[in-house]
Amino acid sequence: MTIRRVGAEAAPLLALLHAEAFPPAQRWGAEAIGLLLDLPGHVALLAANDDAPVGFVMGRAAAGEAEVLTLAVRPEARRGGLGRALMGALLAEVSGLGATELFLEVAESNVAGRALYAGLGAVEAGRRRRYYPDGGDALVLRLPVIRPDAEADA
Ligand SMILES: CC(C)(COP(=O)(O)OP(=O)(O)OC[C@H]1O[C@@H](n2cnc3c(N)ncnc32)[C@H](O)[C@@H]1OP(=O)(O)O)[C@@H](O)C(=O)NCCC(=O)NCCS
Repeated sequence: MTIRRVGAEAAPLLALLHAEAFPPAQRWGAEAIGLLLDLPGHVALLAANDDAPVGFVMGRAAAGEAEVLTLAVRPEARRGGLGRALMGALLAEVSGLGATELFLEVAESNVAGRALYAGLGAVEAGRRRRYYPDGGDALVLRLPVIRPDAEADA
């Protein structure tokens, strides 16, 4: 498996992966994804198995804070550590962009997402009531961004 940074040219592919992972009311179009990736501080990382795309993560970093915009792994590729690997790659990217904290939103009902983020050390920082089209709440989670070379400095 490889994880590489991609730009706005990959937006149609990222939109397909997103559509497989989220309900119709939460889907992002290729145009919106492309516009986001052209903005400063925005990054997308694509995971592929033998060149076959299997998942991606998008995030942004500004003024020392980062945010996960979306994370998706193809259904048949789940539970193999890919979501965790994509998050690790995003943390390294945003660390390089100067972020020391990362925030994200996850549906309270999203068992897989919540377990993944908890395993990375994310803690609850807030709640957005009735945030999703189905009326569900979003939890706002916070995660420290550890620089990959932090241990070497200690
Ligand atoms: C959430 C998602 C990205 C996880 O991707 P993944 O590649 O399956 O995750 P990983 O294999 O790296 O799992 C890492 C850890 O997360 C937890 N986890 C993942 N899927 C889980 C599930 N279905 N049930 C319970 N825990 C789960 C486990 O703790 C797992 O560690 P383990 O396998 O060592 O027990 C994937 O399920 C997905 O794309 N879901 C739809 C979109 C989504 O919800 N995105 C995140 C919302 S912000």
